[in-house]
Amino acid sequence: MRRRKRKGSDEKLLSYENYVVNGKLNQVPPDSNTQISNRTNFDNREVVNDRAYDNIVNNYRGQWSRIFGNHNPIHVEVGSGRGKFITTLALKNPDINYIALEIKEEVLIRGVEKVSDKNISNIKFLWGEAEFFEHYFSDSELDRIYINFCDPWPKKRNSKRRLTSEKFLELYRKKLNSKPSSGIHFKTDNQELFEFSLNEMSENRWIFRNISFNLVKSDFSKENVTTEYEEKFMELGMPIYRLEAYTL
Ligand SMILES: C[S@@+](CC[C@H](N)C(=O)[O-])C[C@H]1O[C@@H](n2cnc3c(N)ncnc32)[C@H](O)[C@@H]1O
Repeated sequence: MRRRKRKGSDEKLLSYENYVVNGKLNQVPPDSNTQISNRTNFDNREVVNDRAYDNIVNNYRGQWSRIFGNHNPIHVEVGSGRGKFITTLALKNPDINYIALEIKEEVLIRGVEKVSDKNISNIKFLWGEAEFFEHYFSDSELDRIYINFCDPWPKKRNSKRRLTSEKFLELYRKKLNSKPSSGIHFKTDNQELFEFSLNEMSENRWIFRNISFNLVKSDFSKENVTTEYEEKFMELGMPIYRLEAYTL
């Protein structure tokens, strides 16, 4: 189903030129006559060689350090929503570069608005889709990937859409560098999704550190930075599941 958009919302988002990167690569149906120049790993995600694609591949992929103007580590949050988590981290850690990747312009803009008057140089908002990770980043370009409270897609037939499913994990693995601290930090309120992710990761040669089945009671709770969704679940007294996964 096509989402209804507020008129002018794309233009408004893209007007924050210092912060927002357009990663919305046009999609065409597989039977279209349009020449398909690049494919992702995902059956339903194909891109045409349009301006947004050229812009990403020529000016951003493999060039994020140049964009940020330094060689600090790069951390990406996939599905950053309204951006509380990543903007808090960016303000706290000026020596780390952050990229907020989010598909929906109406929530991404909330994050942009949080920092737009603060003139901070260590965060960018990438309006796009995890499925296009391959086009956004070159191999080994990233130091950490955060996945916070991603959609659980509870039906089995949709399990491939979960952001911790095998195909996504393979993309993340390629883009993470080989430093021992480079890995995925994952939080969820959903026990089934957590178990699925543990299985999927261990079957695909990831190793774990700091697994928690109730974050507030864990050693990590003092340094935990909450997300918008996390706060809602915590108010309801629900346990938060957390893990860190590293490549072998
Ligand atoms: C449940 S919300 C969680 C938002 C935020 N991480 C938090 O914890 O408050 C999931 C977010 O992921 C985004 N999202 C879902 N699928 C995505 C994809 N394939 N690529 C990028 N963002 C996606 C949604 O638009 C939504 O904002």
